Amino acid sequence: MKLLTIIGARPQFIKAAAVSREVAKHDDITEVIVHTGQHFDANMSEIFFDQMQIPRPDYNLAINSLGHGAMTGRMLEEIEKVLLTEEPDWVLVYGDTNSTIAGALAAKKLHIKVAHVEAGLRSFNMNMPEEINRILTDRISDILFCPTQTAVVNLRKEGYENINATITNCGDVMYDAALFYATLSKKPNVELPETFILATCHRAENTDDPTRLKAIFRAMGDISADTPIVLPLHPRTRKILAASDIKHDYAHLHLIEPVGYLEMVWLLQHCQMVMTDSGGLQKEAYFFEKICLTMRDETEWVELVEGGFNLLCGASRTRILQNFARARVMHPDYKKQLYGSGDASGKIIAGLLGDSRNQ
Ligand code: UD1
Ligand code: UDP
Repeated sequence: MKLLTIIGARPQFIKAAAVSREVAKHDDITEVIVHTGQHFDANMSEIFFDQMQIPRPDYNLAINSLGHGAMTGRMLEEIEKVLLTEEPDWVLVYGDTNSTIAGALAAKKLHIKVAHVEAGLRSFNMNMPEEINRILTDRISDILFCPTQTAVVNLRKEGYENINATITNCGDVMYDAALFYATLSKKPNVELPETFILATCHRAENTDDPTRLKAIFRAMGDISADTPIVLPLHPRTRKILAASDIKHDYAHLHLIEPVGYLEMVWLLQHCQMVMTDSGGLQKEAYFFEKICLTMRDETEWVELVEGGFNLLCGASRTRILQNFARARVMHPDYKKQLYGSGDASGKIIAGLLGDSRNQ
C-alpha cells in the first residue's frame, strides 16, 4: 500500500510522528510525506522532525504566509502535481488546517481515497477557519478516524449514515504521542521560574481581535503576579503584539520562543496549570493531569469541560481570573480514559490496510 501523508502545521507534525512510527513497523506500506511548508521556522517545523524522528518529507512545497484563498489554492495546485506523480492508494490528512483541506480536495478530485485523522470534531462556530476546513474535509473523506465518541455522534447528526464513508472511533493520536514521548521530555534551555503556569495563545479569533487579545494579556499579567506564567509565543502572536500597543511586558510573564515537543512535554509535566486557546494543548493538559483554562468561547473537546478538567473562559479578563481562582481548588478524577488507550495509530494503520484489502 502506498500512503501519501500531508502535513504542514506544528500540530500535524506531532500527530504524524505517532502514525509514521506505526507505519515503520509495516514492510508492506510505503509512506510518502508531503510538507506544504505552512509552518517553516526551525522551531515550528524542523525541530519536530529531528526530535520525534519523523521521516524527512519527500516534498516541501514552501507555501506559507498567505491569505486563506492564496494559501489553500496554491497548495491545491502543487499537491495535485505530487499526487499525479506518486499515484498513492491513500492520502492521509490531519486536523483542520489549510493544509488539511488542500490535501483532501486535491486527492478527492483525482479519485484518490482520503483518510481524515481527527474527523468529526465540531466547535459549531463557522467563523473559525478550522471549522470550515474540518467540515469540508470530513465530507470528502473515505475513512473518518474520529478521536472520540462525541465526534462519531457529531457525524451521525449530520447524516453521515447516508454517506458512503467508514466512520471509526480509534482514539486520539495525540495521546499515543504523549505516552511515547513522556519519558523523553527535556527541560527547555531557558531560565524558568520554579513554579509556573504554562500558556499559549495563537487562535485567529483572539490574535486578530485587539479587544480579545488585550483582555487575555491583561488577565495573564494579573495572574502572573501571583503565579509566574511561561508562554512559548507563536510567531503569529509575536508579530501581532509587536505591531500593537497591547501591554505584554509583565515582570512574571515569561515570553519564550516556541519550543520543541520534548520541551513542551517537560513544561506540561512541571506546570501548575495550563492556559491556552490551542486545540491540542487542551488535551495534553488532561494527559498530564493539569487543569486547563481555555481562552475560547467554545471547544471541540466538550468531554473535558463536562468532566471538570477544562474551564471555558472566553476572552474575558473577569472570567479568566474567576476560573483561575476556581481551578486552584479543583481536583478532578483523571482516571477516565477519554481519548482511547494510546493505540490510535495502530488502529488507523489497521483500518487503512483492512480497507485496501477489501477493495
Ligand atoms: C495554523 C492553523 C491553525 C492551527 C495553527 C497551529 C489554518 C487556517 N490555521 O494557524 O488551525 O491551530 O496553525 O499552530 O491553517 N508564521 C511564521 N513562522 C512559522 C509559521 C507561521 O512566521 O513557522 C507566521 C506566518 O507568516 C503568518 C502567521 O504566522 O503570518 C500565521 O501562520 P498561518 O500558517 O497562516 O496560521 P497559524 O496561525 O499558524
Ligand atoms: N507545542 C510545541 N511547542 C510550543 C507550543 C506548542 O511543541 O512551543 C505543541 C503542543 O504541545 C501541541 C501542539 O504543539 O502538541 C499544539 O499545536 P498548536 O497549539 O500550534 O495548534 P492547535 O492544536 O491549536 O491546532
